[in-house]
Parts: sequence; C-alpha cells; structure tokens
Amino acid sequence: MGIRIVGTGSYLPEKVLTNKDLEKIVDTSDEWIVSRTGIRERRICSDKQAASDLGIKAAQRALEDANVKVEDIDLLIVATITPDMFFPSTACIIQTKLGIKGAAIFDLNAACAGFIYSLSTAQQFLQMETYKTALVIATETLSKITDWEDRNTCVLLGDGAGAAVLKKEKGDSGILSCYLDADGQYGDLLNMPAGGSRLPATVDTVKNRLHYLKMKGNETFRIGVPEMVNSVKRGLEGCGLKIEDVTLLIPHQANIRIIKAIAKRLSISIDKVFVNIDKCANTSAATVPIALDQANRQGRIKQGDIIELVAFGAGFTWGSCVIKW
Ligand code: UT7
Repeated sequence: MGIRIVGTGSYLPEKVLTNKDLEKIVDTSDEWIVSRTGIRERRICSDKQAASDLGIKAAQRALEDANVKVEDIDLLIVATITPDMFFPSTACIIQTKLGIKGAAIFDLNAACAGFIYSLSTAQQFLQMETYKTALVIATETLSKITDWEDRNTCVLLGDGAGAAVLKKEKGDSGILSCYLDADGQYGDLLNMPAGGSRLPATVDTVKNRLHYLKMKGNETFRIGVPEMVNSVKRGLEGCGLKIEDVTLLIPHQANIRIIKAIAKRLSISIDKVFVNIDKCANTSAATVPIALDQANRQGRIKQGDIIELVAFGAGFTWGSCVIKW
C-alpha cells in the first residue's frame, strides 16, 4: 500500500502588498528587495482573518480536488507558527468549522518545515490499520507577527495556506521517504521572543516590540543552504533515487538566492525547481503546500513523477519528502 496525496488546495488572501507599497512604510527599495530576495509582492490577510480562516479555505479546495468528504477524515494536522491562539489548537478550530468528527486532531510546530514534518507524521499514522484518510494543512498569518518598522524582516514575509489530503491506496505511488532533522542550538537566530511562558506578555514586552518575528537573516541563510542540500540528498538516499530522477523539486520559498544556490549545489536545472517567491514571499510552513498545489493545478505534476519537497526554518528544523505522484 502507498500513502498517496490525492488532492491539494491553497488559499492566498486578496490583499496584495507590493515592494513599492513597502517603500512607503520602511527605508527600503523595490530594487533591494528583488535583487536580495526575489520577492516582488506578498499577500496580506485582513484584520478579521486568523490562521484557521485561511486554512479552512485551502482545506476545502484540497477536499474538493481529492473528492473526499469530511466524514472520511480520521486525522487532521495543522502546521502553523501563527495559531489563532495558544489553545485550543487551530486544528480543533478548523475541525469544528469543517465538521470533522471522530478524528485525531492536533497542531504541529516545526516552523517553515512544518508541512514536511506533518506529512511525515501523517504517513506514520496512515501506516496503522485504523487510520485511512488524513488532512494536512499549513496555514500562516505572518503579517500578524511582523514588525512593520523592521526592514530586515517585514519585506520577506507573507500570508497564505496550503493543504493536502492523503489516503492509503494500493500501488507503488505515494510517499517514498521522509527525512527530518533539527538543531535547537540555533533557536535565537529566528524566533518570537515574548508571549510564551519565558516572557509572558507585559507592557514592557509590548513596548520593546518582543511579540514580533526576529531573524538574523545572514546566519540563517548560511546554515539553511547546506542543510537543505543535505536534506534533498538524504531524502533521495532514503528511497534509493538520484537527483536525476526528480521531476520537480519544491523548496521552501525564503529567498530566490537560497533556491538558486541549492539548485546549483545539487546540479539540478532551475527549470525543475518550482518558484513562486516573487508573488507569495515567505509564508513559513505554508510555502511548500501552496507551491505544491500551484504546481499540481498548473499541470506541472503528472502521474508517476518524482516530486521532492524540502524546507528549512526556525528551530532550526529542516527536512525533505520524496513522493511518487
Ligand atoms: O524561512 C526561514 C528561513 N529563512 C531564511 O532562510 C532567510 C535567510 N536570509 C535571507 O534570505 C537573507 O539573509 C536576507 C534577505 C534576510 C538578507 O540578505 P543579506 O544579503 O543576507 O543581507 P544582510 O542581512 O547582510 O544586509 C545587507 C545590508 C545591511 O546594510 P549594511 O549593514 O550592510 O549597511 C542591511 O541593513 O542590507 C540592509 N538591509 C536592507 N536594505 C534595504 C536589510 N534589509 C533591507 C531592506 N532594504 N529591506
């Protein structure tokens, strides 16, 4: 039996924020942002939208694509670093609104690698007799934890959600291997310092702007590139394939320079690498499933293709997933 992705969906909020718009907010330029990151615009959710709202829309599209009913879902995992609230989980909020019953339901925090971690987790569940159909969602409203006075980070981030429905099916298609890794010693390079039990919200934490995403971009970049290259290789080793076998590589969209550096080090043509960072920016856990859904709907994925997903983010966490479509 294979654990197959039988449907994908994504949702991007309507509001487009361009680099020109950002020039009016912080000391930056379209030229700097495009040349250093490849980003031209990003989507921003409305004040009323929370992570669950975006996730539900992506999930509905994935369920429709899969032709699967909510009654069939027995596992729901939501990857996010911007949950609606600390608890209950965003997964439980989505469960109620979608009408899922009698399922295992939880959030998973592995930052930008969240979708890969969630796919791997769903794969383990589905290998059990009792679980047959899983819904995996990655949803982020990073604009809500963006410091709009910090040009180092605010130009990089966007909002969006992606989802996939997984089923146990006969045949050799499906997830061939997953590789997961992490190194918590780098936690300080990319985090949101306050709001948790270490630094609960106070007037001072708000005044000191500690409820926003902080990143040391340069160090993150230097560690991210080799770990993503290594992840792609380890994923392929896990199922006895080579980089030449990959039809489409779908990397986390943090920076076009990172994506190009990975492609070069892996000797894979950039034509075989999916890129949407120009329009979507970095949506953390959601970048990979949004890209997967766009690739799927654009007809860039055919039955039998070998797709590899790879991501790297806060933690640091990283990993890859090789799928025979
Ligand atoms: O999703 C999780 C993983 N995230 C990543 O992997 C992101 C990794 N990091 C990056 O993508 C890049 O490091 C950045 C895009 C964040 C920054 O690019 P960089 O080439 O590493 O630039 P830098 O941080 O070394 O900064 C270069 C200069 C600095 O000025 P000085 O100190 O050289 O005078 C910054 O102050 O660029 C300046 N700068 C800006 N200038 C105009 C930083 N942000 C901006 C900006 N507009 N928005």
